[in-house]
Amino acid sequence: MTTTTPHKTRSTRDTFNTRFVFLMAAIGSAVGLGNIWRFPYVAYDNGGGAFLIPYMVALLTAGIPILWFDLAIGHRFRGSAPLAFRRISSRWEGIGWFKVGVNFFIAIYYAAIIAWAALYTVKSVTQAWGDDPAEYFMGDFLQAEPEATYSGHIVPSILGVMVLVWIVCIATLATSINEGIGKLTSIFLPVLAVMFIILVIRAFFLDGAAEGLNAFFTPDWSVLSNPSVWIAAYGQIFFSLSIGFGIMITYASYLKPRTNLTNTGLVTAFANSSFEVLAGIGVFATLGYMAAQQGVAVDEVASSGIGLAFIAFPTIINLMPLGGLFGVLFFGSLFLAGVTSLISIMEVVVSAVADKFNISRRVSAITVGGTMAVVSCVLFSTSSGLVTLDIMDKFTNNLGIVFGSICALVVVGWVTGRRREIQQHLNAVSQFKVGGFWQFLTFIATPLLLVYFLVNEILTIAREGYEGYSSTQIGLFGWAVLGLILLASFLMPLVAFRGNKYLDGMETSDYGVPVGGRPAGTPNPLATANTATQTADDK
Ligand code: ALA
Repeated sequence: MTTTTPHKTRSTRDTFNTRFVFLMAAIGSAVGLGNIWRFPYVAYDNGGGAFLIPYMVALLTAGIPILWFDLAIGHRFRGSAPLAFRRISSRWEGIGWFKVGVNFFIAIYYAAIIAWAALYTVKSVTQAWGDDPAEYFMGDFLQAEPEATYSGHIVPSILGVMVLVWIVCIATLATSINEGIGKLTSIFLPVLAVMFIILVIRAFFLDGAAEGLNAFFTPDWSVLSNPSVWIAAYGQIFFSLSIGFGIMITYASYLKPRTNLTNTGLVTAFANSSFEVLAGIGVFATLGYMAAQQGVAVDEVASSGIGLAFIAFPTIINLMPLGGLFGVLFFGSLFLAGVTSLISIMEVVVSAVADKFNISRRVSAITVGGTMAVVSCVLFSTSSGLVTLDIMDKFTNNLGIVFGSICALVVVGWVTGRRREIQQHLNAVSQFKVGGFWQFLTFIATPLLLVYFLVNEILTIAREGYEGYSSTQIGLFGWAVLGLILLASFLMPLVAFRGNKYLDGMETSDYGVPVGGRPAGTPNPLATANTATQTADDK
């Protein structure tokens, strides 16, 4: 039963029609390239089955608590990341812009991988990569020039499909939340789930699948004493759950007022992790098959990262009866999962610009999305795109997301001291209540761990560089990109929000919940909502 709530008349912000649509959008964001190709090789590199222990610990101690934090910030302060942080404190709007900047750069390379997946979906039908998929991927397909900082040499097929990917995403974001993000994810996600389940079942019955699964699940307990395994687990959880990006802040700003936030977070987190473990099973069963065909051990065929998806899988597809169909399912899944994540990454930037300049989401989607598309195509449709992508991914994820998350947690928790207010907001209409332990995990344990992670990464890069790339390549696509994001986060707050509703005098949100100015100790009006009324908006 639902309704036009009285709140709606006070709100100019779009809302998701139902909680189901929100869940489709949130799970669609979480389930992405990170689940299908990143998780299996990260798990494998870090102890196989034993990795599931740090992974579960990271999920429970940081993943879910920070997801709740993000949801509460977006829902309570009802804005894109910069607007939400501006409402938290006029001094800290820059944190939101930092997140926006990180998303800008993640989106522009993420679109390229989606375009590769789309092209490989079609190539699967005829196995166009021939007998040597590694040579094909680096040579004919990417025409990779790893030494070049910027080659300027456009690869037309990649450019063409990237343009199409950008058009689809911009068109989706240019319409309303429900018509765009809501409809697209509600169609793509079930199709993805069905395709992926068929793929995993097929993989399960391949010769050698058991060997692959043994390699994946046989624990190497010694890894548990290795800090880098724990770092990998926390890194995977942040990337995979889309937390610390500002994505969940933005999406939660479109939730109806009386939404059971903790429950929503739990459903999202468990759906994402289930998909992730399923992907691990599917990928390793398939690698087991490849190892059996080639008469080698599984660890000899397991390669990492981009190679796993675009080199190992085509090799397997060549060996397999009805391989073309398997390829369409695999690369098609990668494509669908990628698109539903890319629109969420873009939405962080689109909604921030719409809020700041008081323009419609259509205008924002077209101008902001158009700018991203141009930068993306100029950088990543060229023969030097692979290296640029690898460096930008490393710096934006391992440093940018982590730094932005530390700032957000420290500022909300300690500098502005709003820990309890966020906790009360989460509990106001949720059956599952959070308490002091949540505060400890969110505002003490996770920030300390992230600081350790960040310092460790910076020292490692400073000492060893990254993957042997030149200092010009790393300087330009790594450090300079982070510098640019930091500069934007200092400059953007100097520009005033257009439109009175965003000014400091705004003390109540659209829901009549005091924002920003509620004196400490004053009860949260939402806390008076009881479980009988909570379901009204919570369909
Ligand atoms: N959560 C998204 C992914 O896993 C970003 O790819």
